[in-house]
Amino acid sequence: MSSTAATLLPLTARGARPLVGRVRVPGDKSISHRALILGALAVGRTTVTGLLEGEDVLATGEAMRRLGASVARTGPGAWVIDGVGVGGFKAPDQTLDFGNSGTGCRLVMGAVAGCPVTATFDGDASLRRRPMRRILEPLVRMGATVVQAAEGDRLPVWLAGARDPIPIEYATPVPSAQVKSAVLLAGLAAPGQTVVIESEATRDHTETMLTHFGADVRVEPQGPHGRRITLVGQPELTAAPVTVPADPSSAAFPLVAALLVPGSDVVLADVMTNPLRTGLFTTLREMGAAIEEVAVRRDGGEAMADLRVRASDLVGVEVPAERAPAMIDEYPVLAVAAAFARGTTVMRGLKELRVKESDRLAATADLLRVNGVSVTIEGDDMIVEGRGRAPGGGLVATHMDHRIAMSALVMGLASEAPVAVDDAAFIATSFPGFVETMRGLGADIG
Ligand code: S3P
Repeated sequence: MSSTAATLLPLTARGARPLVGRVRVPGDKSISHRALILGALAVGRTTVTGLLEGEDVLATGEAMRRLGASVARTGPGAWVIDGVGVGGFKAPDQTLDFGNSGTGCRLVMGAVAGCPVTATFDGDASLRRRPMRRILEPLVRMGATVVQAAEGDRLPVWLAGARDPIPIEYATPVPSAQVKSAVLLAGLAAPGQTVVIESEATRDHTETMLTHFGADVRVEPQGPHGRRITLVGQPELTAAPVTVPADPSSAAFPLVAALLVPGSDVVLADVMTNPLRTGLFTTLREMGAAIEEVAVRRDGGEAMADLRVRASDLVGVEVPAERAPAMIDEYPVLAVAAAFARGTTVMRGLKELRVKESDRLAATADLLRVNGVSVTIEGDDMIVEGRGRAPGGGLVATHMDHRIAMSALVMGLASEAPVAVDDAAFIATSFPGFVETMRGLGADIG
């Protein structure tokens, strides 16, 4: 189902006139996956508006169908899910193919682990390279069985869910919302309390949406930056309407482009402003970015606002490691912004970037280097020397990674020479309509 090397889509971005206008980027990817999964596990009909209709989320929708839920599109972004109830999945008759999506694959592994069914999980070449042990290890403790996996516990994985899932207390060894969510989703079918302890708070959409669907979830602070999440097992999840706000991780691309292209003035509508997702906005403001929040509001437990962004002169800053979970997907585009800032930007604690859709630490450094920007990696830190301008002129290898592709194209809008990417096809995994959206603001991408 996913894009392959056979359908390479090269693109080039060129120095643009000011970006001007108002856009709503597509729905949040994390919330969209969770709406489909919790809708499938709830009793009754869940209606979703503003669902992200990107390849990643559509793969999760297909997996929910194969596991027995009814999932139907009723209009643009409008979906209805008739759930099977906690523990009610049926064995799928085919491999569950998650394409490029680590989130879909890992969260559904958790949901399957609590049901007495077996399923095979697979994905594209990028997903097959990504670590699954971090998910499988706690799920096995909860009673699931890894019947078979590729070397190093990688995809394809054949997972047998637990007949009698065991509630556990689990301290996540890496700051990962996917690991936390997989354990909580498996814990839904377990009797008693499932507890996840994280030393760094990660995005909390699973906890928020579980509460929205009627589960009993308690969240307490743990240490200086962490949380302890307790889920009471075997709830009756009740269908609930979900409105998906615009994805801050997608808004990041037109936002940074507007900051860098002189004279720009852009409004990004309905952007989710959950503080566990807005580390990029905090950092850019510290760099001098003019980002104004207007029409601040709340829906379904999530905060959102319209963001007015104006072109700004940026300065280099140091980004602390503790901020990484709140902006983990935004470092490639922050690195582009840092190249156009004046002075050095140091981004600390980027270890997790090595296991994203690509080795994003290496891919981001290469993106900058081929465009004449000085960048170094020291251990898990990335250091970018900002000169207030960037030569550009490079051809960027995107490594099946949507965010590397979009970051490179943003760079091309502000650099002296055009920037090309080898393959923009994977942008469709998270931001369908990216090129059209950017062109609508005045960008020259083609
Ligand atoms: C996500 C969690 C993050 C993030 C990914 C979406 C989620 O991954 O990078 O794009 O929706 O839970 P990790 O949990 O592996 O950090």
